[in-house]
Amino acid sequence: MIAVECIDVTKSYGDKETSTQALRGISLEAYAGELLMLVGPSGCGKTTLLSIISGIMRQDSGMCYVYGQDLSVLSQTELTAYRGANIGFIFQHFNLIPTLTAIENVSIPLVLSGVEKSVAFEHAEKLLERVGLSSRKHAYPPHMSGGEQQRIAICRGCVHAPRLIVCDEPTSALDHHTGIEVLKLFRDIALSRDSSLIIVTHDARIFDFADRILRLDDGRIVSVKHNHHSPPS
Ligand SMILES: Nc1ncnc2c1ncn2[C@@H]1O[C@H](COP(=O)(O)OP(=O)(O)OP(=O)(O)O)[C@@H](O)[C@H]1O
Ligand SMILES: [Mg+2]
Repeated sequence: MIAVECIDVTKSYGDKETSTQALRGISLEAYAGELLMLVGPSGCGKTTLLSIISGIMRQDSGMCYVYGQDLSVLSQTELTAYRGANIGFIFQHFNLIPTLTAIENVSIPLVLSGVEKSVAFEHAEKLLERVGLSSRKHAYPPHMSGGEQQRIAICRGCVHAPRLIVCDEPTSALDHHTGIEVLKLFRDIALSRDSSLIIVTHDARIFDFADRILRLDDGRIVSVKHNHHSPPS
């Protein structure tokens, strides 16, 4: 099943004089149950592409569908509801809320979609346990290490069982061992539900986990690599 379809997507920033063309015509498909990685040098457009795919930003031209839904035709309210039900986003800089505890941060997507707080906490607690952070559940993000914050952000992106999870540099703040462990867990959580997982990364140590790797350069896809072997377990 096709989870994401982009057709000739372009995006530029700034006005005419200062314009930066971030995406120069991106076409791709991502599938349910697939782990797709986007790689490429800094500034090549990875975060911009993820933001469009997840409805945070609109493309200038081209089409983007998520499970058949054209996000650009939705009103802001409809888009918020669609994203809340279907999409999990794990940001490059975590974007945790500093005045909420770890468990409260993880619960946000469920609470926003109307789930009762005690039920949301139960789900959040289970995920925190899986990433080894039960003992830190009442801690606030500013009092946590980068790796701990990253794991909280991953839990928050998965807690509402979204059909599409997009993730910007999930292992950048983690040491090698923790990075591999977190990625395995992340893959298990997402793919056991047949969700589609799109990960942006510079981290060559995790490339083996991908089903496909798309390489971007200067706003274009320049190569596609299929990993036919089974991923590390
Ligand atoms: N808000 C913005 N305003 C102006 N230009 C921007 C903005 N965000 C990104 N850009 C530019 O668009 C291009 C693509 O940026 P993007 O953040 O998508 O790259 P990236 O591949 O995610 O880079 P990195 O690996 O460093 O995170 C870059 O040239 C960047 O300078
Ligand atoms: Mg980026």
